[in-house]
Amino acid sequence: MSSIRLSTLAPWTDRAGRVSWLKLAVFVACVAPAVWIALRLHCGTFHPAPVRGLIRETGDWAMRFMALSLAVTPLRYVTRQNRLVIVRRMLGLTGLFYTLAHLAIYMFDRSFNLWWMILELFWRIYISAGWVATVVFIVMGVTSNDWGIRRLGSATWNRWHAWAYPAAFLSLLHIFILVRLDAFEATLIGGLCAFAVGFRLLRRAGRAERPWTLLLLGVGLALATAVFEAWFYRFATRVDMMRVLEANFDFSYRIRPAWWVLAAGCAMAASAMLRVGSWRMRGAAARPQPQ
Ligand code: HEM
Repeated sequence: MSSIRLSTLAPWTDRAGRVSWLKLAVFVACVAPAVWIALRLHCGTFHPAPVRGLIRETGDWAMRFMALSLAVTPLRYVTRQNRLVIVRRMLGLTGLFYTLAHLAIYMFDRSFNLWWMILELFWRIYISAGWVATVVFIVMGVTSNDWGIRRLGSATWNRWHAWAYPAAFLSLLHIFILVRLDAFEATLIGGLCAFAVGFRLLRRAGRAERPWTLLLLGVGLALATAVFEAWFYRFATRVDMMRVLEANFDFSYRIRPAWWVLAAGCAMAASAMLRVGSWRMRGAAARPQPQ
């Protein structure tokens, strides 16, 4: 009995203690960046300034895993794979792991000087935003288990865990204040997080099944992403906004973030259209009733 319980604790097993290939694959993907960083550190090929490189790289992975955990709900909807829910917690906890590593290296970089860190917390907006986001991620990490749900009750738990969105916003604020010349990834993640928020609001209003609404959301947020990106570069580097907007139509280098947000909107709308089509074919009874 106790061995069955122990086996359910492994990150790659399901509740029954059986190996879940999906969880195993995601677990390998979660650990891979840390192993890659450790290998490069060991071989001396990591970064000319290793501590600064470590702060940046752990921060980058924290941001990526945070965004991936927010993407699970819309992805479940597009792919109709409900079992994706079992990896959401793992992705969120991995985001927290890289955030804590990021914080620990920051503290090491500041020689664990408490007064200096307190001063920075109140003096630098990006540090304040990072701290608040980190505290929210910690609370979510500690409560994201059966014990947390039991203790808080599922309604309160859901309300608490909706704080992931404001925390993601604060993380992005932290990052946008720091990045200057290359805001590609931050803009992409910001656009996709905005889509996840929009999708959540549509679901709450009972409109997430409507293909046109999802398409409109995608188009609106893609335009907003393009304008925000142009505004950001204007603000950070004084480059002409029109030039940045025009870069959206130059596909020779990278496909700009706005197109990826549009692609997310189109994928969701197409999936909703297929779903509505299949209900029509199977009759009204096949349509799930609102709970
Ligand atoms: C206590 C909280 C935090 C502190 C004290 C902190 C501190 C820092 C510092 C000092 C840097 C600049 C490193 C440099 O000199 O280039 C940095 C960069 C970064 N941080 Fe944080 N951070 C915190 C939380 C977070 C969180 C929650 C995230 C994302 C989930 C994050 C993501 C990043 C990223 C992506 C960068 C790199 C930005 C760039 O490319 O320049 N940080 N952080």
